[in-house]
Amino acid sequence: MSAAAYKIIDHTYDAVVVGAGGSGLRATMGIAEAGLKTACITKVFPTRSHTVAAQGGIAASLGNMGPDHWTWHMFDTVKGSDWLGDQDAIEYLCREAPAAVYELEHAGVPFSRTQEGKIYQRPFGGMMQNMGEGPPAQRTCAAADRTGHAMLHALYQQSLKYDADFFIEYFALDLIMDEQGQCRGVIALCMEDGSIHRFRAHNVVLATGGYGRCYFSATSAHTCTGDGGGMVLRAGLQLQDMEFVQFHPTGIYGAGVLITEGARGEGGYLTNSEGERFMERYAPSAKDLASRDVVSRSMAMEIREGRGVGKEGDHIYLHLDHIDPKVLAERLPGITETGKIFAGVDLTRQPLPVTPTVHYNMGGIPTNYHGEVVRLKDGNPDSVVPGLFAVGEAACVSVHGANRLGSNSLIDLVVFGRATGLRIKDTLKPGTGHAPLPKGSEELALGRLDHFRHAAGEAPTAVIRSEMQKTMQRHCAVFRTDELLTEGKQMIRGTYAKLADVGIKDRSLVWNTDLVETLELDNLLGQAVVTMESALNRKESRGAHVNEDFPDRDDANWMKHTVATFDGWGGKGGEIAIDYRPVHDYTLTDDIEYIKPKKRVY
Ligand code: FUM
Repeated sequence: MSAAAYKIIDHTYDAVVVGAGGSGLRATMGIAEAGLKTACITKVFPTRSHTVAAQGGIAASLGNMGPDHWTWHMFDTVKGSDWLGDQDAIEYLCREAPAAVYELEHAGVPFSRTQEGKIYQRPFGGMMQNMGEGPPAQRTCAAADRTGHAMLHALYQQSLKYDADFFIEYFALDLIMDEQGQCRGVIALCMEDGSIHRFRAHNVVLATGGYGRCYFSATSAHTCTGDGGGMVLRAGLQLQDMEFVQFHPTGIYGAGVLITEGARGEGGYLTNSEGERFMERYAPSAKDLASRDVVSRSMAMEIREGRGVGKEGDHIYLHLDHIDPKVLAERLPGITETGKIFAGVDLTRQPLPVTPTVHYNMGGIPTNYHGEVVRLKDGNPDSVVPGLFAVGEAACVSVHGANRLGSNSLIDLVVFGRATGLRIKDTLKPGTGHAPLPKGSEELALGRLDHFRHAAGEAPTAVIRSEMQKTMQRHCAVFRTDELLTEGKQMIRGTYAKLADVGIKDRSLVWNTDLVETLELDNLLGQAVVTMESALNRKESRGAHVNEDFPDRDDANWMKHTVATFDGWGGKGGEIAIDYRPVHDYTLTDDIEYIKPKKRVY
């Protein structure tokens, strides 16, 4: 069967948002509110998007529980990023954060409260007062330990009041790009009935989340398959800083389920097999509330040096058993329950077995602080790709640089989701006419769909996926070396090639999870290869990327963003071209000066 044999249902919109997590819904709301004809297409029901799993909170310098200021938040974010974050975008994020949180409050997010009825804020790793001097800042606004859940429900309810069309359980296949390099729309498969939909739009917003599932143990949902990143690579565009993968210190050992950093914010602490609170050695000032890369590495060191806990000495204990059970019930009810279910542990009496677990991709689709996708083109590092936006974990703004601070993700979603809506409102008049689509606009999407639908090779999708996940986990984790990465590069290349021999069993188009998982695997594998090779390419240690052969940060040679293209899909081709964009070493306004690099200690 050829691509031409598929019947296509056409739609025309001013803007199409792909993804209905926090950033996708916030962008959808803003665009629809501006009177533009808006569609949101999503592969899961909106309230099942991965934002639902975010626990501990959302960062904003409200100062409800002690002194705070947006410039302090900015300093911590720049330092947390290990000076790879773009300071204009970081200023935008931190200045806009308080208003974004109040907007959520007014939208109905049931934040926990202080005695006086203000939004409750807890300390999180790397968040300090006084431009990093300390003491810790209570900056993370929380709805118990279900903040993402609360936000997602409020945002979905709000977005329904605007006139946006939702296409739910539609899987986006590929972007429609024209010869001038402008994005003109997107093609999607309705998973329920197998129909094919072509969305013509002046603007496409990719809000498709991260690609954590290319690792074996991740806090990410099984749906986090980087579908936007996959589409961007197939469109010949670049992904940025893919070597920076965040390991959250406290995933439940064996299950990978997230235990919020809020647990340490409420007084929890880590111990090794000797019962020692070892973080005091690695981060004498911030201790258990150092930034995530520092805590994860310290845990890995303890395990490596034989001080891990458990029969195999391969994990660490998180203690909450000293905290008043009433506080646990009020502030951390979710993890109290997950501790019981996934580790069989009663947190009020026993320590929880935890291990660093993949949690977040700092890298992604490069954008400016308006959400516009940018690329390095003809020597211009900030060349805007017309018609294409990216937000949330799918994007790399870059506010998180080499390491994201906990609770800066939820604020990124709403601040840049809103910024994207504003940019589209400012640049597009309602009712603007559409030029005809380029000829063959559906060929890439449907050719690829048809290819996998009829794939009759020997290798099952699940086997290739598992091989990819194990290779990434072993060769591109918390500690890296050139030898590990070189071997990892060969292995992940071999796994990518196996995709040419994939076989699926179900040839239908209706709820064909075999097919959709294979399309997702194709998205993941391109990004896994780019991640491994970008990691091998970066000869320094910065934030979440630690290469033991190059243990120091090297600002002279490496304070720059990696950008990479990947030319291929389905196990074919796969040539990578790596280049660089400069880090923005300037702020947005004169209200704050560029924060100069210094040694990063906690
Ligand atoms: O630990 C957590 O609650 C996760 C928060 C985050 O990743 O921002």
